[in-house]
Amino acid sequence: MKHYLGKSEYHLRQKQQDYPVNYEPDKLINAHLLVCGMSGTGKSFQSSRLLGSAAQAGIEVDVFDVHDELERIPGVTACRYSQATGYGYNPLELDTDPHTGGVNRQTEYLVGLLREASPQLGVRQEMVLRNLLLDTYALAGIYPDNPPSWQRDSITEAQRKQLTDARNWAALKQYYPTLDDLKSYGRRKLTALNIGGDNPCISALEQLTRQYKRLTTLQGKYAKASSDDELDKLGKQVNTSKEHCTSSYAEFIAAMQTGRELEDMLKYDSADTLASVLQRLELLNSAGIFRANPPPFGNAQARVHQIKSLSTEQQVLFVKLRLRAIFERHKQAGATRSGTELRHVIFLDEAHKFFSKDDDDIINVIAREARKFGIGLWCASQSPTDFPDSFLTNVGSTLILGLHGSHWQRATSKLRISVETLKHIRPKQVVAVQLRKDGMADPPFGNVVVGN
Ligand SMILES: Nc1ncnc2c1ncn2[C@@H]1O[C@H](COP(=O)(O)OP(=O)(O)O)[C@@H](O)[C@H]1O
Ligand SMILES: [Mg+2]
Repeated sequence: MKHYLGKSEYHLRQKQQDYPVNYEPDKLINAHLLVCGMSGTGKSFQSSRLLGSAAQAGIEVDVFDVHDELERIPGVTACRYSQATGYGYNPLELDTDPHTGGVNRQTEYLVGLLREASPQLGVRQEMVLRNLLLDTYALAGIYPDNPPSWQRDSITEAQRKQLTDARNWAALKQYYPTLDDLKSYGRRKLTALNIGGDNPCISALEQLTRQYKRLTTLQGKYAKASSDDELDKLGKQVNTSKEHCTSSYAEFIAAMQTGRELEDMLKYDSADTLASVLQRLELLNSAGIFRANPPPFGNAQARVHQIKSLSTEQQVLFVKLRLRAIFERHKQAGATRSGTELRHVIFLDEAHKFFSKDDDDIINVIAREARKFGIGLWCASQSPTDFPDSFLTNVGSTLILGLHGSHWQRATSKLRISVETLKHIRPKQVVAVQLRKDGMADPPFGNVVVGN
């Protein structure tokens, strides 16, 4: 990829020469990029041009658009995530690599992400969530110590509904469980915590409850319309279910030997804790980001994820889960042959909010390790001072489009840009650019006339 940024101001002013400045990630220490500027200085404008060039060069692109302003880049397909569209990805799908993946890894990863997204999550809630995840996997025949069992197909909500309606449990086993499975398992455990009993008891009780509801509906609203036959049939079913339920509980009680049969329930702490975890999941998923309902990107190579409708908490969760999926995919594909080739651009708007101090955070892992797998992390933000030093000192190129005077002092010390260069910046006309070429220690920023 070769993207024309503008003309070198130095050459224009001192030598009256047209000297083009290009962004060529293959020639830089890495393909990471930082675009900084106050509101209105052209971050979206310059980012769109850059992303357009990447898409045109056949590079895969994922844009995380928090302002709904990047969908018009030529060659991209945009999808909006919201309560109305309900697009999302199943967080229970596993990385099947025996070294880096599996049930325990995914469980810890999800618990960690949720902890980060909602700091009010307590240790007891974390434990409950961990056990809910492990039990949901186990129920689907997926076990931590059995890597072949990690291999399942992805399911969509529509497929899941079809199989569930047809009660085709055998076919369902070939797919990963979803957040709906986890929630329904959690609700059963909640019932068990409240009224006691084991799984067969709760199933019998649920069936009886469903039938009573149907019976009430038939007897009530449509009383005149429903036939006596139908009522009679359902009445018989209810009686059978009642007997089944009673015998399930009788068996459960008869089988009790130590009085500690509900001990297994201790891993769900208390009904209050379990209920609060289920509520938390409900809230985080209110826009549907964890639904097994992938957006219709089709074969699009350049995708814009419009996430403006999500809360900040949901945006961070969503972006980090996607980043990990992208990183895992390229890691499995292996290093690029040249070690510098750019295969995939990830663009984050308001990028500072996705960074953290945790070295293991996927965004820091990508900043550190993604180069050899061909991933470039492009970040746009109002100020460079919100990024960790590890990123600022390691980013292949930095574009400064105009900083507020109050940021100058910190910018000069953090980015080692001279005040002179900052003074020459004129929003939308002259910017400051640093390109870290391979083999050059710390090149100075230069002013570039971007023109309009
Ligand atoms: N180099 C430029 N030439 C012409 N118009 C520009 C240029 N840079 C930005 N603009 C325009 O200025 C406005 C603000 O730019 P924008 O990219 O939205 O800024 P930001 O994302 O930093 O808030 C937009 O209407 C944009 O089209
Ligand atoms: Mg913008």
